[in-house]
Amino acid sequence: MSEEQVNEEFLLPYEWPGSYFIGEEEIDAVTKVLLARSPYRFYGHELQHYADKVEDFFRKRLNRKYAVLVTSGTTALSTAMLTADVGPGDEVLLPGYMWVACISAVVRCGAIPRLVDIDDTYTMDPDDLERKISPRTKAVLLVHMSGACGNVERIVEICKKHNVLLIEDVAQANGASFKGKPLGSFGDIAIYSFQYNKNITAGEGGLVVSDNDVLGAKAWAYHDVGYSRNAAGRVDMTGEIQTWGQCVHMSEVSAAVLYAQTQKLDMITSRMRARNHQLYQGIGAIPGAKTRRVIDPNGDSGPFCLISWPSFEIAKAMTEKTRAGGVKPGPWGVGNIHMVDWGLHVYYNNVSLIEKRGVNSAGRPWSDPLNEFHKEIDYRKGALPQLDDLIDRSILITVPPSLTEEGANRIIDVYQQSAKELGLA
Ligand SMILES: Cc1ncc(COP(=O)(O)O)c(C=O)c1O
Repeated sequence: MSEEQVNEEFLLPYEWPGSYFIGEEEIDAVTKVLLARSPYRFYGHELQHYADKVEDFFRKRLNRKYAVLVTSGTTALSTAMLTADVGPGDEVLLPGYMWVACISAVVRCGAIPRLVDIDDTYTMDPDDLERKISPRTKAVLLVHMSGACGNVERIVEICKKHNVLLIEDVAQANGASFKGKPLGSFGDIAIYSFQYNKNITAGEGGLVVSDNDVLGAKAWAYHDVGYSRNAAGRVDMTGEIQTWGQCVHMSEVSAAVLYAQTQKLDMITSRMRARNHQLYQGIGAIPGAKTRRVIDPNGDSGPFCLISWPSFEIAKAMTEKTRAGGVKPGPWGVGNIHMVDWGLHVYYNNVSLIEKRGVNSAGRPWSDPLNEFHKEIDYRKGALPQLDDLIDRSILITVPPSLTEEGANRIIDVYQQSAKELGLA
């Protein structure tokens, strides 16, 4: 068998979990919306109420009072920051391993992001959070990265102690839980994404949830035109909230796809979790490999395995060897990468951040006199020593729900063989 044939066989399936299950249910739902000629969520010829149904699904699942569907995880974060009253003179604490939207949502509100280090969970280190929290801290953004939960118990405690608002970012961990309680039910506000790479998808989409009456009403106004709406779906300018909105509602077409996907969420995550545990067990047994500390393995939604090695050089060599051995995705996939190459997920890869680029030609938020304190902050590599070391030595493997038990065993074999060739095993 030629090397090319071997590689063809070993290709990792693409990492777009929800996409594999787009089928009759999604097609039927979208067809209903289109036949009713009612793609707008607030009114129409014969409104199908899919956006209402999705919001209801998450309200019940998370036991939350308010749920607001939006166009993306990024607009969910912006809505959350506006709802939290984040603005000039404020800082938001967030981990250095996240997605660029977590930082951009803060910067676009005119505030300053302050980065917190990560620990061996690959999420925010509560000790570093405690060190950095200050009177300027308006909110803490706990990002449940790569499918599994952060140190939610301690971080809830710290935020309560300092009376700081906690926002959970569950974009990468929809369906994950901590001790049986779904992520997204811990913070004052939580956000989700339904973009194509996420556990369930409508191509694009997002959600903001809360229990607090004021936050819930504000999130609604900020996602809409700045006011509340009455039961008939009309803007109500007489209510208590009169502000400026973003008009980032989800359309009924997207909501129809998403509603069908919500019914498949647990099936998708349980498939990924099974393969994820298998890979952790197999690759984790290789001498020198250290698997992510997953705080609650039964609550891991499963789409990624994170594994560290003794050094940068070994992590790099393992990635190259295992890729050459076939553990790689098609041209659009990510699959199996050295985490230093994980783009805008790692703070020091973000040029706009390290160079403190403004959102406009006036250089805001950095040039705002209320934000002078940013001058003490350096975002270049070196700012977060634990993260720098861990990411240097780590690889990330995507775990799509279509990966079979046999496929996962073959990946483990390639890893074992590569480790032997590198003198690890
Ligand atoms: C942790 C995290 N937060 C927020 C987002 C933003 O979501 P979206 O792509 O839907 O704007 C993403 C998307 O990748 C993400 O990974």
